[in-house]
Amino acid sequence: MTRTLAHAPIMVLNGPNLNLLGQRQPEIYGPETLADVEALCAATAARHGGSVDCRQSNHEGQLVDWIHEAREGHCGIVINGAAYTHTSIALLDALNVCEGLPVVEVHISNIHQRESFRHHSYLSQRADGVIVGCGIQGYAFAVERVVSLLAAG
Ligand code: DQA
Repeated sequence: MTRTLAHAPIMVLNGPNLNLLGQRQPEIYGPETLADVEALCAATAARHGGSVDCRQSNHEGQLVDWIHEAREGHCGIVINGAAYTHTSIALLDALNVCEGLPVVEVHISNIHQRESFRHHSYLSQRADGVIVGCGIQGYAFAVERVVSLLAAG
């Protein structure tokens, strides 16, 4: 079932260590904080009459539970799985039960320019779009893309 932007928020999920954005390797991830990311997502969704539900966890199972919640009550998912991107079949399996829900994967850094273990993403197999290397602006692009996919029906 496709939910509309006007009636359900977009779930914005951030994985491990992203709570430390701004302090964590700013030469790679930039100076902005997670609060800045969440404000950007909220402003982007609001321009389209929508809203976001932003959550961050350092725990894989918590992220799985939130993806299940999104399946019931949200209109799309923006996800930066952080390190779990490269390891987690559990997150992929959870996304795979979100049939019909637009899913856009984001990475702040360009994972393809980094260590080879970052080049593969389990989540990309399910994601409708993947945005890498655009800094935190990538989250705005991801929210925009969810909005476009919802509009396309
Ligand atoms: C990241 C890239 C991942 O490889 C890394 O483990 C992260 C952040 C990014 O946003 O660039 O924690 O997902």
